Amino acid sequence: MTAGRAVGVGPDRPVRVLVLDHTGQLGGAELALVRLLEALGPDVDVRVLLFSDGPLVPRLRAAGAVVEVLPLDARTVSTSREAVGRAGAAQLVSLLRLVPFTWALVRRVRALRPDVVHTTSLKADLLGVVPARVARAALVWHVHDRIADDYLPARVVRAFRWAASRLPAAVIVNSRATAETLPGPSTVAYPGFGADQVLVGGRATGHPTGQAAARQVAAGQAAARQAAAGQVAAGQVAPGPVVGMVGRISPTKGQLELVRAASRVLVDHPGASFRLVGEPSFGAEGYADEVRAEAVRLGVADRVVWVGFVADPAAELDGFDVCVHASPVPEPFGQVVVEAMIREVPVVATRAGGVVEVLAGTPEDPAPLGELVEPGDADSLARGVLAVLDHPRDAAARARRAAEVARERFAATRTAEVVSGVWRRAARLSR
Ligand code: GLC
Repeated sequence: MTAGRAVGVGPDRPVRVLVLDHTGQLGGAELALVRLLEALGPDVDVRVLLFSDGPLVPRLRAAGAVVEVLPLDARTVSTSREAVGRAGAAQLVSLLRLVPFTWALVRRVRALRPDVVHTTSLKADLLGVVPARVARAALVWHVHDRIADDYLPARVVRAFRWAASRLPAAVIVNSRATAETLPGPSTVAYPGFGADQVLVGGRATGHPTGQAAARQVAAGQAAARQAAAGQVAAGQVAPGPVVGMVGRISPTKGQLELVRAASRVLVDHPGASFRLVGEPSFGAEGYADEVRAEAVRLGVADRVVWVGFVADPAAELDGFDVCVHASPVPEPFGQVVVEAMIREVPVVATRAGGVVEVLAGTPEDPAPLGELVEPGDADSLARGVLAVLDHPRDAAARARRAAEVARERFAATRTAEVVSGVWRRAARLSR
């Protein structure tokens, strides 16, 4: 027998997996995919097919994956989750546009003869159904979004829940919080962190919390020298702690709440600055304007630094005294919280979605690994930030414990084991 359909999946040959994703951009699910691929063992043979080109392609290749792009109409690729929920002629036209694409995808999937078709975005989940069926491959959905009305349009939620318990052979989710939004069974595989995110040599311990504080002390000393030399204008304050947020500028991430919390934090820490790392997400430019206007209205605009997009947020995180995760709507998982944890940066995060699991204590010590605050509540957020800034030694000790737990709980090798286990079972069942 030649290596093909007729050869069973077993220890004698790796499971052949074809990953489908609609985007070539580096979103959260895509970064999770890169880290998963880096950690996979030789028992799986993975190829990735994207429906659009972008910076994800070289990242996947660097992780050792064979990647190809089968372009889908750009308008369909970038349709927002909200727009998908609207009915009308435009939607019908975009559905019709999918027909030739699906046909091309069916041909390509058949030619590649995978054992498993693994889809990793809502659009790919749906577009993968027919090709997987035709190619007689097991369909595995990897769901990174909470399938809930606070996150997606109600029509999409209803349709997706219906489909999730009927169409895929197995469903993998990024957290228990995501699992709870689906009607059927699923397997939780926490996204793992990559080798590039690991803190080398430990976070410098200065006063009060670490590197950022050490830098701040140095800056404070420089300011004091300047002041002594009469170079600091009256009323100017020495630089204080850095409160930062990493994530797309979007109402779902809560930069507005942080700016509101800033005015309260500045009362006690007048030198504090607030770094917003990230750029406005698709269609969220209006929200960015709203955040800027609020900062001006509250008189804190000169304390807010709009850093913009950075390819590697690790250096930014290392400069934070507090990493804020302010999502007012429940976040499905929250990889940036994990990255902050493994870099020993104290975390203040909203008590919602997967982040609660991410920051959960251990059976031996159930105290949470960061400060949990109420979603959409700027006062609660301010109190959380102050709890860290006012007790830097306690915060640093908790951050070190968080790093220890995170290194074990979110090891990418663990993610890889869970996901490849699902692939093996699904491949066997589909034969
Ligand atoms: C999506 C989710 C995010 C999660 C990521 C990886 O981007 O919105 O919460 O961290 O996928 O699973």
